[in-house]
Amino acid sequence: MTPRKARIAAAFAAASASYDRHAEVQERAARLLLDRISLPSPCPRVLEIGCGTGGLTRRLHPRIGGDWVITDLAPAMVESVRPRVPGALFRVMDGERPDPDLDGFDLIVGNLAAQWFEDPPGAIRRLQGRLAPNGRLLMTSLGPDSFREWRDLFARFGLIPGTLTFPPLPGAERVRVTHPYPDAKSFLRSLKGLGATVPADHHRPLGAGSLRRVLAAAARPFAVTYEILIVDIGR
Ligand SMILES: C[S@@+](CC[C@H](N)C(=O)[O-])C[C@H]1O[C@@H](n2cnc3c(N)ncnc32)[C@H](O)[C@@H]1O
Repeated sequence: MTPRKARIAAAFAAASASYDRHAEVQERAARLLLDRISLPSPCPRVLEIGCGTGGLTRRLHPRIGGDWVITDLAPAMVESVRPRVPGALFRVMDGERPDPDLDGFDLIVGNLAAQWFEDPPGAIRRLQGRLAPNGRLLMTSLGPDSFREWRDLFARFGLIPGTLTFPPLPGAERVRVTHPYPDAKSFLRSLKGLGATVPADHHRPLGAGSLRRVLAAAARPFAVTYEILIVDIGR
């Protein structure tokens, strides 16, 4: 695992207890996936990437059943889902580099994990190769317009925030969701509560004074755009 991925895993692991309290947008994205999934086959083989605390898993598993392999980069996230899905297989795994023995899935799902990948299009191609002949891959990620208001706020001070920037995913459907936070500090707090704290490469943290000035200048409530990308492909 690269040092950056180890930091991502540690950040999410540290947030496994607080994650669910901050996961409104993740739940909306999970619903976008659920709306698109019909019963793939009577007893589907399902691979989940980046399960987190199981926001998608606990809704989808009872609905379609089947044989599941549930994975995440962060061991604490895998452990948080294990008691909720008896009979499934669990693995700590980098979704960009699926284990060689994982192959022939009827359905590969992942909700808002792919935006943490180093190479989302390449990773999706590799995962697509693990589908059964009539299999389907359905994953959400975040697109370039996400966090626009946050970037605009920093730009007013000539600054760039440490939040990730998200590349487009060719062929993905795009759904814009706006989430209102009471203020900009609450948005920052929610990223921390989720464990989404590893900054973009080469980001230099702001001093406390600069950050305070930026946060004080933000509108209240502070609405943040999430551009949810939905990848829906077959083999
Ligand atoms: C925003 S959470 C989404 C969790 C869950 N799918 C949900 O719907 O709430 C992102 C999850 O992706 C995991 N993750 C990040 N990078 C990953 C990678 N390269 N491979 C697998 N999981 C990864 C994190 O550990 C975290 O649990």
